[in-house]
Amino acid sequence: MKRAAATSLPELLVRVYRLLRQLGYQFLRPFDFLSRALNSKLGLPPIHLRRHVGPLSTFEASGAEFMVYLRLIGELNPDERVLDIGCGCGQMALHLVDYLDAGSYEGVDLHQPSIGWCEHHISTSHPRFAFHHLDVRSSAWNRRGRLAAEEYVFPFANEEFNLIIAKSVFTHMRPAAVDNYLKEIARVLSDGGRCLLTFFLLNEPQRVRERFGLNRLEFGFGDQNWRYVHQNSPESAVAYDEQYTLQLLHRNGLRLKQPIIHGRWSRNAEGLSFQDILLVEKQNRGA
Ligand SMILES: C[S@@+](CC[C@H](N)C(=O)[O-])C[C@H]1O[C@@H](n2cnc3c(N)ncnc32)[C@H](O)[C@@H]1O
Repeated sequence: MKRAAATSLPELLVRVYRLLRQLGYQFLRPFDFLSRALNSKLGLPPIHLRRHVGPLSTFEASGAEFMVYLRLIGELNPDERVLDIGCGCGQMALHLVDYLDAGSYEGVDLHQPSIGWCEHHISTSHPRFAFHHLDVRSSAWNRRGRLAAEEYVFPFANEEFNLIIAKSVFTHMRPAAVDNYLKEIARVLSDGGRCLLTFFLLNEPQRVRERFGLNRLEFGFGDQNWRYVHQNSPESAVAYDEQYTLQLLHRNGLRLKQPIIHGRWSRNAEGLSFQDILLVEKQNRGA
């Protein structure tokens, strides 16, 4: 009952809650700085930026975890060109600077403070790492954005990237925006390129566990193609029907390169990561 009320809060209250939370983290910044200094972690972004991308407790571990997936699942080589969509405050970039020796990296995100921090703290010492602010609209993340995510054209040339990652980003986007980003991914991905995406996927085994109350997130609103946790803030957490997701890939010229690696968010005992992972490639590879 309590949970139902919390997921139906009016949008204004959700916004006030987020603002207060941000103010709280701003207040904690000097203490966070001291703690990072004492623990030799001044290379990490400040607390309010780390919190922007998820729980503070998993910031470092999650980057390390996905670094392993990029190498083992995405077969990333040190001389490749990487695009990180929704890069936040550089969680992956901070790992990739030690790996991409002859390669390069572009990170894009709609959160200007995160992009500003990355430019100042990563690009200055690693000129092959660049960051771009995409001023696209999102009701939960960038309400005043000037551009529509459903129509946005990434500022990159065709077939520019060998590896693209979108980690925990499509879990915060509406269908038309996901559709457009997949179209853009297909455009900027090289022949032979790989793309590692994470989703919350709705499928039959997940629905069975949901009926037993086992899912860690309750996607209570939406329709058969996409569902979300917060009635008045869909972009806070979004799940997609698995078949619908495969259709979106297909109609944008993409396909699975290997079977989906399902995650543990729905209490799948065999899950690997928290979210579901898709390794994707272009359909017309080598054509
Ligand atoms: C949960 S965070 C994940 C960040 C990063 N990928 C990571 O794993 O640490 C989601 C990120 O996506 C960004 N974001 C949300 N919607 C976006 C969009 N339409 N285009 C680009 N970035 C977006 C947010 O600003 C945020 O940094």
